[in-house]
Amino acid sequence: MDGRDLVRAVKEIGTERGRRAWRSAWRHRRADAEALPRRGAERARVPGLLAGTEARPGGGVLRFARSELLVRVTVGGAVFWGWDGAEPVPSYAVVGSGPAPDPRAVLEPDTGGGWRVVSERVTVAVSRHGAVEVRTPGGAVLRRELPPRWWDPVGGGDGGEGGGGAGPVAGGGGSRWLQRSEVPADARFFGLGGRARGPRLRDGEYGLWNTDPKGGFGPDTDPLYITMPAQVVVADAGTHLAFYDNPWEGRVVLREGEEGAGSGVDRPGTSELRLEGGPPRCWVLVGTPARVMQGWSGLTGAAAVPPEWALGYQHARWGFGSEAEVRRVVAGYEERGLPLSAVHLDIDHYDGHRVFTVDREAFPDLPGLAREVGARGVRLVSIVDPAVKAGDPVHASGRAVGARGAFVRDARGREVRGEVWPGECAYPDFTDPAAREWWGGLYAERLAQGFAGFWHDMNEPVSFAPWGDATLPRSARHSLEGAGGDHRAGHNVYGLMMARAGWEGLVRLRPAERPFLFSRSGWAGMQRYGGTWSGDVESSWEGLRASLALVLGLGLCGVPYSGPDVGGFGGSPSAELYLRWFQLGAYLPLFRTHSAIWAGRREPWEFGPEVAELAGAVLAERERLRPYFVTLGHLARRTGAPYVRPVWWGAPEDRRLRDCEDAFLLGDALLVAPVLECGADRRAVRLPRGRWYDTATGAAYEGPGQVLFEAPPGRMPVLARAGAVLPVRREDGSVGLEAWAPARGRTGGGVVIRDPGPGFEAGEVERYTVRWAGDSVVVEDEAGGVVSGVEVRGLGGVPAGA
Ligand code: GLC
Repeated sequence: MDGRDLVRAVKEIGTERGRRAWRSAWRHRRADAEALPRRGAERARVPGLLAGTEARPGGGVLRFARSELLVRVTVGGAVFWGWDGAEPVPSYAVVGSGPAPDPRAVLEPDTGGGWRVVSERVTVAVSRHGAVEVRTPGGAVLRRELPPRWWDPVGGGDGGEGGGGAGPVAGGGGSRWLQRSEVPADARFFGLGGRARGPRLRDGEYGLWNTDPKGGFGPDTDPLYITMPAQVVVADAGTHLAFYDNPWEGRVVLREGEEGAGSGVDRPGTSELRLEGGPPRCWVLVGTPARVMQGWSGLTGAAAVPPEWALGYQHARWGFGSEAEVRRVVAGYEERGLPLSAVHLDIDHYDGHRVFTVDREAFPDLPGLAREVGARGVRLVSIVDPAVKAGDPVHASGRAVGARGAFVRDARGREVRGEVWPGECAYPDFTDPAAREWWGGLYAERLAQGFAGFWHDMNEPVSFAPWGDATLPRSARHSLEGAGGDHRAGHNVYGLMMARAGWEGLVRLRPAERPFLFSRSGWAGMQRYGGTWSGDVESSWEGLRASLALVLGLGLCGVPYSGPDVGGFGGSPSAELYLRWFQLGAYLPLFRTHSAIWAGRREPWEFGPEVAELAGAVLAERERLRPYFVTLGHLARRTGAPYVRPVWWGAPEDRRLRDCEDAFLLGDALLVAPVLECGADRRAVRLPRGRWYDTATGAAYEGPGQVLFEAPPGRMPVLARAGAVLPVRREDGSVGLEAWAPARGRTGGGVVIRDPGPGFEAGEVERYTVRWAGDSVVVEDEAGGVVSGVEVRGLGGVPAGA
């Protein structure tokens, strides 16, 4: 098929699909008109006055005239509050039953008729009207939750308990609610899942409804595939993360504060959260950024560590079209001596776009192909879409699960149908444990085809619609772990539970290997089952910027492994844009080129010999740093610290760093300053405090301050922290250490965790210190032994004024 045929084919499918999508959208609208609880008369409610208290472990219950509040401080210092009977569990985000209450935290009377829970790390003060303040032990207010407001359905009919369901979203059933919060005037907001408009979340509204932006997104598109009601707030008084554990549809309006506003009085920053139902509950974690993220990973689960090969460079494309084409691409990399870790096969390798099938004409021997490219160190990764073509054998097998089958049904008990790539489809209900188990077993077919990794797509979930929301009707019913509820409660956890189904299935099928899985949609806790990627980011300079914003924001929401479609999804980037994207991608955990079937190619050599050569150097550097990525992957699991961190990570008190959005820290050792502007051949880099070396020249600079670096096409500024020790791959393939000279009179160090193999072993932590010994710099292991063969850099670096 030549390019023009392809375009024609897509257009034809488009029109036929267009008609079907139209019909499907109408059906969904009708279903909602029939079955979605209508918003009837409502009565507004606030807690009213405090009437009594009851001490409980870690805090207590405070009874107000029209609601009650549970406040608990846990052993690690995390704060939980829940109104209307909401408890920490059940929850889709929190692992186990959540952290244990801190037995030493006590509930005691506060001034003004309020009460407070005092603990070692945090104080929670509750006013007699139900405002909740989270303070540092020194008394500085980090966050103030105003008394919530509910809109209760009158008469308990429409919109009541039956509509939303209880279970993991228990408490407050069908009442809409609003939580207004205040943060210090100097605070900055981050997080809320994957946002193109980040990493600093400026004034505006942010949707909480996982959404496929239909055909691509730019910097202003919101919401995207992964939304989370989790915000990281950085202020002079301290850093905190607030997580409203509730997957219901909602939105957040953020407004940064202003110091000395108006009459010289500070105006606090505000967050206004509105949720359509579900439990009014929240976790607040306080401390340094590292501490906060450690707490978050303890609460929502340790991140999966990708297999070592998934930290190498990967090539994807929608529309390889045949085995021959895959061979051609792999050979292209090999002939040019360019490293390649994996090739990703998109829906075009399916038979009729149907999940868990293979187009035998174009891909007659996938296991053979997998073996063949495997021998050259290249793995095959398969896309997995959730929607199952109606009438397909997979559909029949799903229907046989349990008494009701594995698929999402409507209020009348009929399977909900939607329109996706293969045509009319049914949707597995991943909130049903039996459906998850069935689905997980289906990966046996993929493993037998030779696939080593899995790429979950379209799991917001998508049902094509020419207008309105391209997903399931809100009235569709979900199991919600047996509690029952509708799509308003189940939508945002659909991708999360699909990831769980895939992950658990793969672990059952191959217990000795940790799966490689990444998913387009998800929710808080998705890191337990793997990572994610940008989705269909547009091929533009704004798209390049947005892809960095996504990775940073997701990292702060506990999802450390992600990366963009290098080059953007849907267009044909210029050679310059492609190269800049490639340079940035090389320093992100998931380093993958990808493009749409209608878009230009992404092999580096398609952009001319100069780009091919420069991309080759980028790939070589990624290979050299791969052991460092391995270390960072294991550290993310152990500590919750993402590989890619905002530059304020170690110095949140530096306000200029808080506003710096065009650079990032890769682990502790490196500061990466991508070139994000067309035509730029130099760029300013804001340095955190301490000494930094230009890794290209060895020149030293003292932070804090701003430095201008040359950035011609072949160069993206990368700086190393003085005193850093990191593992690197040597020419002979072995792993060695690289150390950067500490400033005179100072010491430094670093941690190394080597790849423990494909299983679930945690890997051993090796700690190194680095110091000056006379005129040389030595690196010592934990036993105090001097490590030989270390490449010490930065010795000649005389600090230039920064
Ligand atoms: C979606 C995915 C994209 C994929 C395409 C076809 O748009 O985001 O990565 O190539 O579907 O499967």
